Amino acid sequence: MADRFQIPHFIKYMGSKREILDYIHDAVEQLEVNSEWICDLFAGTSIVGSSFKNKKNVHINDIQEYSSVLAHTYFPNIIEGHSPVSLASIENRVMELIAEFDRQYPEVNFDYSCIQDLYHLKDIECQQQKFINNDFEIGFSLFTKCYSGTYWSSNQCKWIDSIRAVAEEYVNTPDYYAIISSLMFAMSYASQSTGHFAQYREITQSNMHDILIYRNKDIWGLFAKKYEEISGVIYTATDLEHKITTLDYVDCLRIIEEGSIVYADPPYTNVHYSRFYHALETLVKYDHPVIKHKGRYRDDRHQSPFDKRTEVRNAFRLLFRGVKDKNSHLILSYSDNGMIALPEILEIGSVIFGTDYEVDVKSKEYIHMKMGRSDEYQMDVNELLISFKRRL
Ligand SMILES: C[S@@+](CC[C@H](N)C(=O)[O-])C[C@H]1O[C@@H](n2cnc3c(N)ncnc32)[C@H](O)[C@@H]1O
Repeated sequence: MADRFQIPHFIKYMGSKREILDYIHDAVEQLEVNSEWICDLFAGTSIVGSSFKNKKNVHINDIQEYSSVLAHTYFPNIIEGHSPVSLASIENRVMELIAEFDRQYPEVNFDYSCIQDLYHLKDIECQQQKFINNDFEIGFSLFTKCYSGTYWSSNQCKWIDSIRAVAEEYVNTPDYYAIISSLMFAMSYASQSTGHFAQYREITQSNMHDILIYRNKDIWGLFAKKYEEISGVIYTATDLEHKITTLDYVDCLRIIEEGSIVYADPPYTNVHYSRFYHALETLVKYDHPVIKHKGRYRDDRHQSPFDKRTEVRNAFRLLFRGVKDKNSHLILSYSDNGMIALPEILEIGSVIFGTDYEVDVKSKEYIHMKMGRSDEYQMDVNELLISFKRRL
C-alpha cells in the first residue's frame, strides 16, 4: 500500500500506519473539508504525513528527534544546483575512518566465523560489553563504547559510528538526513533484538543460531542498499509547503495553521516509545548521554502522558482542546484495546467539542506487529479512526 505513495521504508516501528495509509486517506477525503494543511501530530516514522506530500501542505511533528530526521528525508529542502552525494564518495570517506579506527583499536574486531559453541559466543560478547568501561580516544566511537555486544557487535558498532561521522560532514544539506535515515534502516535490520531497542536478547542454545545471523549482517551493505534505493525517489520537489517540528503535542497544537486537519496517532499502550527507540535518538543527537539499565537506555527519556493510566484522560482533553482552539478538524487513530475505551474517548470529546463538531467512528480489523523480548508476534486489533469534524 505504501508503494502506491512511493514512500521508502526505513525502520521497524511499533504501531506504524504504513499498511493502512489508504484507510487514512479515505477518512481524510470523507471529511469533505478544504483545509490546506494537514498536521501529523505524533508522526513516528513520518510515513502518514509524507503520504500527503503531493496533496496538501504538511506539518510533521513528534517529540522524538529521529522522527524529524525521517521527515526531513521525505521532505528534503532541495538546494539549487545540489545533487545528492554519491554512494562511492560516502564509501571512500567511511573506509578512511574505519581504517583509522582499526589502526588505533584492532581489538574491536571479533571473528564470528569460528564460533565453536554457546560458551565461546557468550565469551566474546561479554568481552565486547566491557568496552563500556573503555575511554576510546578517537572521535565517533559512542556506539562502539556503549552498545558493543548488545544490540550490535563491536564491529557493527564501529561501522555505525563511522557512517554517522560522515553524515555530520553533510550537516545542513539533504544528504545528512538521507545518510542518517539509511543508517537507521541498517541498524534496525541488523540488531539482534526484535526490531526495537528495549532489550537485547540473552544468548541461549536455542537462539544462538539466529543471533549469529544478525551478528553477521553487514551494516555497510544494508546502508548502501537503502541509500541507493532512496536517491531519485525522495529528491522530488513539490510546490506545496511543509513544516517539521520536534515538539510536545500540546505545544505543537498552539502553532498549527488555523483550520488544519490534525491526524493524531498517540501511543495507546503503556509502552514508552523513548525506551523502545532510545538508540535511534542517540544516533541522531550523538550527545554522549548517561546510559542506564541493562537495555542501556539514555536517562533523559520522554514519558508520554498517553502511556500512563493516571494521565491519559487529561492528555486526550488537551488534545481535543488544542484542536478546537485552532478551529481545526481531528482524525484520531486509536486501538480498541488501548489505555482507555472508545466510549470514554467519545465522552471526553463530547464535553470539549460539544455541538460544534460532528463525530464519526470507523473500525477496521488490523494485524498489529507487537514486539516482545524474545520474539516478534502479531496481534489482531480493531484500528479505530474517530473523526471530529468542525461544523462550518
Ligand atoms: C503510535 S506512534 C505513531 C506512529 C506513526 N503514525 C507511524 O505511522 O509511524 C506514537 C508516536 O507518538 C510520539 N509521542 C508520544 N508522546 C508524545 C508527545 N507528548 N508529543 C509528541 N509526540 C509524542 C511517539 O514518539 C511515537 O512516535
